[in-house]
Amino acid sequence: MTRVAVIGAGPSGLAALRAFQSAKKKGAKIPEVVCFEKQDDWGGLWKYTWRTGLDEYGEPVHCSMYRYLWSNGPKECLEFADYTFEEHFGKPIASYPPRAVLWDYIVGRVKKAGVRKWIRFNTPVRMVEYDKKKKKFSVTVHDRPKDRMYTEEFDHVICASGHFSTPNVPFFPGLDTFNGRVLHAHDFRDALEFKGKDILIVGRSYSAEDIGSQCWKYGAKSITTTYRSKPMGFKWPANFEERPLLQKITGKTAHFKDGSTKVVDAIILCTGYQHYFPYLPEDLRLKTANRMWPENLYKGVVWQDNPRFFYIGMQDQFYTFNMFDAQAWYVRDIILGRIKLPKADAMKKDWKKWLKREQKLETPEHMIWFQGDYVKELIEATDYPTFDIEGVNQTFMEWEHHKMDDIMGFRNNAYRSLMTGTMSPTHHTPWKDALDDSLEAYLEGPRKKVA
Ligand SMILES: Cc1cc2nc3c(=O)[nH]c(=O)nc-3n(C[C@H](O)[C@H](O)[C@H](O)COP(=O)(O)OP(=O)(O)OC[C@H]3O[C@@H](n4cnc5c(N)ncnc54)[C@H](O)[C@@H]3O)c2cc1C
Ligand SMILES: NC(=O)c1ccc[n+]([C@@H]2O[C@H](COP(=O)([O-])OP(=O)(O)OC[C@H]3O[C@@H](n4cnc5c(N)ncnc54)[C@H](OP(=O)(O)O)[C@@H]3O)[C@@H](O)[C@H]2O)c1
Repeated sequence: MTRVAVIGAGPSGLAALRAFQSAKKKGAKIPEVVCFEKQDDWGGLWKYTWRTGLDEYGEPVHCSMYRYLWSNGPKECLEFADYTFEEHFGKPIASYPPRAVLWDYIVGRVKKAGVRKWIRFNTPVRMVEYDKKKKKFSVTVHDRPKDRMYTEEFDHVICASGHFSTPNVPFFPGLDTFNGRVLHAHDFRDALEFKGKDILIVGRSYSAEDIGSQCWKYGAKSITTTYRSKPMGFKWPANFEERPLLQKITGKTAHFKDGSTKVVDAIILCTGYQHYFPYLPEDLRLKTANRMWPENLYKGVVWQDNPRFFYIGMQDQFYTFNMFDAQAWYVRDIILGRIKLPKADAMKKDWKKWLKREQKLETPEHMIWFQGDYVKELIEATDYPTFDIEGVNQTFMEWEHHKMDDIMGFRNNAYRSLMTGTMSPTHHTPWKDALDDSLEAYLEGPRKKVA
């Protein structure tokens, strides 16, 4: 029997499991699917842990999410086409759910599909090797609770281990003698730690914006963000400012490129993540920056040098859950023989065409259309339920405008589901006043005060 290994049970890996299960439900003969997951539960980054650094087994903690994290984009843009929010929650819900609500939604679909039995938890993959003669992969894994390493053979491997977990940590002179706390966004957990403090944030992307906003919401005295390329340019509140890049730190004083200085209590490096696959050999390993079109991937998923090996979710992301679905259904159909791969030259030509277009993208709007076109191309090739992709693009554009209008209030907006057509309700509490991020508080109304 054909065997498929899936590495990771985050949204991308779970999309792969659901793709195979849905084919089986429609009567197809499917391969044996085994998913190896390092953590003790499913959901990937959405599975929160208080731990930082190493976990109970000494494995690097995967989670980069933090308490009080709410979706940074409208949920209408990430909705599964085969499992709507309304189906899961039994009613329409507001548009920017907190982490716990989205975790519940992700997990609801795969619980219903009954695929948990395909997953081996607490089992990090240690090495993948390909035998050209046998046309088989050897996947070596470590069962942590039993402390047993073993190897099994597979015909295909789907790598879905994510790329927002291993921090990119630059050095600035004086960080080593700074008399305060220095951490990377990956280790940020509770904004209340920074209440009453002057915070310096390095970076200008989503982590910088959101961790800065969190610290502001939970009572930091001031937030200063420092950018390398250009400012974020939002209309920040009075105690929130942007400065050119940090040059050095002396004692607790940060020095910026424009000559200005600021005394700070803590420094949070929101400087992004690395694509890091310590368990992959040289010939299978994707090497890329965080970009919209990583190289060497036909249709963004098939490894050019070995088309039995696939990656899901390796792009920088506007589209998330439904893009992972589009990719998973596409990969599934290649494995099931429903989609035939062209010759190596033609595959290369195809992804180079996308790469060329990616290199010309200038604005977030261009990137959204680019990713929308990509998702459309994939879903047209499979039986994944089609949906209004231009509608999703337009919702992303609205979201961008709402952020420019009011960065601390954009999450108070509501959007129409592109899957059901239902208009979402406005949330019962403005985001800046909603301190309880629990599922119960979000769905039912304020419960208790956190701070
Ligand atoms: C702070 C933060 C906030 C975000 N907020 C949003 C948001 O609001 N909305 C949104 O749509 N997206 C958001 N994202 C984007 C996020 O990347 C996706 O939502 C999604 O989690 C990606 O799914 P994934 O399965 O590709 O990767 P992950 O969620 O990272 O899952 C990968 C899985 O692989 C497992 N794994 C890793 N290595 C191994 C190994 N060696 N062996 C076995 N298993 C392994 C991990 O334990 C994990 O379970 C956010 C990302 C970050 C970092
Ligand atoms: N739900 C939420 O609210 C939420 C919150 C946080 C993150 N996220 C998600 O998490 C993902 C990752 O976002 P991210 O912001 O961590 O990573 P990112 O988008 O890759 O951005 C990395 C940032 O680090 C900066 N940087 C890198 N090296 C630097 C250096 N040496 N000096 C100064 N700056 C440097 C980059 O600057 P340049 O721009 O100058 O290159 C960029 O601003 C995204 O998908 C995002 O949506 C979501």
